Amino acid sequence: YNIQWFPGHMTKTLRMMETEIQHVDASLVLLDARIPLSSLNPEVERITARKPKLYVMNKADLADPAVTEEWIKYFHAADAGCVAISAKQKGGAKAVQTAIEKELASLLERRQNRGMGGAKTQVMLCGIPNVGKSTFINTFAGSARAKAADRPGVTKGKQWVSTEKFDLLDMPGVLWKKFDSKTIASNLAFIGSIKDDILDVEELAMNLLDEVRRNYPDLVAQRYKLDAETLALPPYELLEAIGRKRGLLVRGGEVNTERCAIMLVDEFRACKWGRISLERPPQRDDLADFAEED
Ligand code: G4P
Repeated sequence: YNIQWFPGHMTKTLRMMETEIQHVDASLVLLDARIPLSSLNPEVERITARKPKLYVMNKADLADPAVTEEWIKYFHAADAGCVAISAKQKGGAKAVQTAIEKELASLLERRQNRGMGGAKTQVMLCGIPNVGKSTFINTFAGSARAKAADRPGVTKGKQWVSTEKFDLLDMPGVLWKKFDSKTIASNLAFIGSIKDDILDVEELAMNLLDEVRRNYPDLVAQRYKLDAETLALPPYELLEAIGRKRGLLVRGGEVNTERCAIMLVDEFRACKWGRISLERPPQRDDLADFAEED
């Protein structure tokens, strides 16, 4: 992971967020429901810590529903606001809006110590690249979507999107300056938040297979019609076995492992393997990580 992947515009985004957080009432932090912790950017955590915050686990339609339930309990146990949504689901706009308005309203009410007087709540929207921010804005704001005017004291040219009750300030997707753990980097790569062209796709696919077969062996076995023995093969041999089954061969009858790897990653991301969560909540001692400042 010693690669140049944190582009300059992300440094700019973090700086912009530091400024903007001072002018908003709250933040919405979009997470990927399949990797809630790995998609929780520590830089963003630090910047948003002083204001009320709602974690929005998006793409819940791709995640294991039982695990998502556990995550919601985990966040709530730490007294952090959290909802699980699917910004992409047709007809889901109302559900998304209701859930967020409800959670955000109670969050603001609890923390509110100055009169709002019916003014719109200003909310900063953040999240890692590809988490579904654009989709979310379209769903959340829907046809009522309108760009609000620049506000005094706020840097010009910000993307404000208004609904009846909220003004959302959209921030570009931002990743880490450096990863503390290989697991986080892998998880972000699996879901496609790190650009694939700086990754070795075969290594990515092998790691993904290895990871998923631990918790969801049946899903992998079913999808690629593998018997127990094949499923237990070392990662490269498993990759070859799947490639052979799919007829992904090159001349001479060898498996085209690169094509197979691309197919595997694409199918995983398209939810063809089934609904899979790559992370489960840590034990309760770690809850302090989520406790808000003050
Ligand atoms: P971003 O602004 O945060 O970068 O993310 P964006 O909204 O562009 O979404 C990234 C990808 O994730 C898109 O897929 C989008 O359709 C998908 N997506 C967003 N929210 C959800 C969700 O709740 N569930 C599912 N299943 N997918 C979601 P794409 O393949 O890049 O584009 P497209 O093929 O959907 O057009």
